Amino acid sequence: MLKNKTTIVILAAGKGSRMKSNYPKVLHKLGGKTILEYVLNTAKSIKPERIILVCTSNIKEILSKTQNFSVKWVIQKHQKGTGDAINIASKNFLDNENIIVLYGDMPFISKESIKKLQESKKKSNLSLLTSSIKNPEGYGRVARKKGKVIRIIEDKCAKNKEKLIKEVYSGTFIANGKDLKRWILKIKKNDVDAELYATDIVYLAYLEGSTISTVETVNYKEILGINNQLQLSISEKIIQKKITKNLMISGVMLKDPSRFNLRGILKHGKNIEIDTGVILEGNVTLGDNIKIGAGCIIKNSIIQNKSQIKEYSIMENVKIGQNCIIGPFCHLRNNTILNNEIHIGNFVEIKESTIEKKSKIKHLSYIGDSEIGSQVNIGAGSITCNYNGLKKSKTIIGNNVFIGSNSELVAPIKISKDTTIAAGTTVIKNVEKPCLVYNKKEQKHKENWILAKKK
Ligand code: UD1
Ligand code: MG
Repeated sequence: MLKNKTTIVILAAGKGSRMKSNYPKVLHKLGGKTILEYVLNTAKSIKPERIILVCTSNIKEILSKTQNFSVKWVIQKHQKGTGDAINIASKNFLDNENIIVLYGDMPFISKESIKKLQESKKKSNLSLLTSSIKNPEGYGRVARKKGKVIRIIEDKCAKNKEKLIKEVYSGTFIANGKDLKRWILKIKKNDVDAELYATDIVYLAYLEGSTISTVETVNYKEILGINNQLQLSISEKIIQKKITKNLMISGVMLKDPSRFNLRGILKHGKNIEIDTGVILEGNVTLGDNIKIGAGCIIKNSIIQNKSQIKEYSIMENVKIGQNCIIGPFCHLRNNTILNNEIHIGNFVEIKESTIEKKSKIKHLSYIGDSEIGSQVNIGAGSITCNYNGLKKSKTIIGNNVFIGSNSELVAPIKISKDTTIAAGTTVIKNVEKPCLVYNKKEQKHKENWILAKKK
């Protein structure tokens, strides 16, 4: 017997008004990925013939920019409810194929539950994915008569007794294309909010005498739909728990897993210690023997073996070599590349710069658009003046340069190797040969100054 083809439809066009956010609901992030990506990945794992994504043109535009989604896009212009969303997609349904509907705001739906649903379709016309939960508030309740499913009662339509039903509906179901097209056309606007509820197909199927079966989700968490910020934060907790568990199993030491967040992908070596309150975002790579102190935020960066990032340091798009000591309290950004054995200390900001081996910038500096050689020492409070109000310019510092505290390097500027810049110097001309550079300054002493002031 020929196997029925399968199309998965994902509904993702809802307004998401309960999120009270300007951003589309299904594109909010969980563990660094959009809610919708979780659903899409599960859908792909079923290997259906087609995936139809019902969304808004705004969502399509945002997603098309970031990823190559191999889906059939269906745009729902006016959000008239889940029933309307399926109706718009139904123009693409074949009569004899199985249609599985998933909701784009349910990231935990599992492949196993969908497989069970596919299995149960063999014995029924309509099969619904349900779950029994302690607090069914917000979910559609499964109404039964003598054990048989009659209809789904939406939370906002449920009366007192109906609200007590603990068996809830996930919105996920399977039916064949022909039946679904017929039922969907019969849905009428709901009295409460004039929307077309997809859940009404259950009662329509029942009236026709169709067989309706239910399948319980493998895990009760799968039912979690994300409709508001509270549910988003609960889901984030669930995701982070899973992430931290996997990291710890793979050998990463997390001092307090409940206060660690990975919002993206972490590649790591052995012997990694991560203290409390660290956030890793995007693609982060950590070599072997790395220590990250409390409160650090590291985005899209690479840190090589035996380097240490001390407390409350922030970095984005940087590459740190081996045996470096970075922080506490420093800010590295915009394609900054540090070679090996470099020390960067507190209140140092480095932007779009490269620094060669064994150089040190240990206190209160700003380094922007610079190329710094090896074994350079930049004293406390020294800065590169890289911006003249119109454009950014480069600072190039040779090997073994010593820059005394509180110096200003006015870019564009080049400083020869082996040069010493005296403390408090404003360097405005290139230094072509190794030398001592200082500004002529006069120190005056006014005597009896306190007495003079008092008179
Ligand atoms: C829905 C179900 C409810 C179920 C719950 C599970 C209906 C009427 N109710 O309620 O029985 O218990 O999910 O989480 O279906 N969408 C569109 N176009 C629209 C409206 C919604 O594509 O016009 C999409 C949304 O983006 C979302 C999904 O459909 O991904 C579900 O819509 P939502 O408004 O979240 O429904 P719930 O109130 O959660
Ligand atoms: Mg929902």
